[in-house]
Amino acid sequence: MSGLSREEVERRGHGVWAEVDLGAIRHNIAELRAVAPRSELMGVVKGYAYGHGNPAVAWAMLQAGATRLGVARVAEALHLREAGVTAPIHVFTEPPPRSAATMLTYDLTPAVYSEAFARSLSEAASAGGRRIGVHVKVDTGMHRVGIMASDLPDAMRALKALDGIAIEGAWSHFAVADVPGHSFTRRQFELFNELVMEIEKTIGPLRYKHMANSAATLSLPESHLDIVRPGVAAYGLWPGPHLTNSADLRPAMSLRARINASKVLPAGERLSYGLRYELERDGRIVTVPVGYADGYDRGLSGRAEVLIEGKRHRVSGTVCMDQFLVDVGEDPVEIGAVATLIGSDGDAHITAEELAGVIGTINYEITTRIASRVPRVYLNEIPPATRDVAAESTQTSTR
Ligand SMILES: Cc1ncc(COP(=O)(O)O)c(C=O)c1O
Repeated sequence: MSGLSREEVERRGHGVWAEVDLGAIRHNIAELRAVAPRSELMGVVKGYAYGHGNPAVAWAMLQAGATRLGVARVAEALHLREAGVTAPIHVFTEPPPRSAATMLTYDLTPAVYSEAFARSLSEAASAGGRRIGVHVKVDTGMHRVGIMASDLPDAMRALKALDGIAIEGAWSHFAVADVPGHSFTRRQFELFNELVMEIEKTIGPLRYKHMANSAATLSLPESHLDIVRPGVAAYGLWPGPHLTNSADLRPAMSLRARINASKVLPAGERLSYGLRYELERDGRIVTVPVGYADGYDRGLSGRAEVLIEGKRHRVSGTVCMDQFLVDVGEDPVEIGAVATLIGSDGDAHITAEELAGVIGTINYEITTRIASRVPRVYLNEIPPATRDVAAESTQTSTR
């Protein structure tokens, strides 16, 4: 439905592709729902579904029981609506006021934390004789965006007075939930509960309160509240080293490429930009058509490993914009062999966590930065229409 088959990808001349196992996404969502059985699950699909690709990932999450989706920007939500997604879509940051009317047209659920944006929404809603449900974002200590505790009473009075706005929910975001037992997480959660009480004093009971990201979903059950908002865990990635293997999650993405050159060079030859790698003995050098323009970080030069025919080999020399080299020694690797940069090959695995460790970043950044020019190949996709038919036939057969 949304991706290309691997054959089509190769016909179009791509030597690198990201395989995204939508079965793994569905499995992870089911697992996270079992961890938080009393809450709704909002699948966080911002950043092109952490690089895994929309709308395919969004559909997979909804098929597995996510009831809503979360994105950072209006444009990300429009992409999903234009693909036919009808579930509630939360937009985590306030867009420029000019897009207030767009949010109404596309039935999006805005985060609100400034009076100016709330006013734009109110004007757009009133002009169309409509009301828009919003979720108030409160700042409990991360200090990116959100209403500060000291400003909350005035802000709520102002919001209450605006026509066309229905406050459906309140939410906040944890700063260090990836470190289980951290006192700041507890403080944030306590403050959130106090701020919710304050809001409810002004406007009455809130339908939705939510705060839990993946880390909190996995490690802090009391924070599950009405909705959990896992992102990274839904992709089978760990929100932090302390939480590794805290649930049965499956990494959904593999990054693979086909070797496009292979040559035997004598000892003493040097490789790639900067001539930073020197062959200590005669050996075979293969070219992998992946570079930093594909999101394969230049910092991986000489440090990361790849899998070729089930065996680990080190990236040899500098990662270029579109290619890098690998010294495979005496292994008879031929043009056309598949290199796995992330994922499994036989019993060997390279995880996004491993690559993140090499360059001192987090797994989130590894997958999210895989460039748009790398085609996504979806495995185990259930097209949305089939899902509906399947759901109906299951219901009929169990009646
Ligand atoms: C508001 C909000 N909620 C939930 C998430 C999901 O976080 P994670 O990927 O750590 O589960 C994010 C991502 O940063 C976010 O910004």
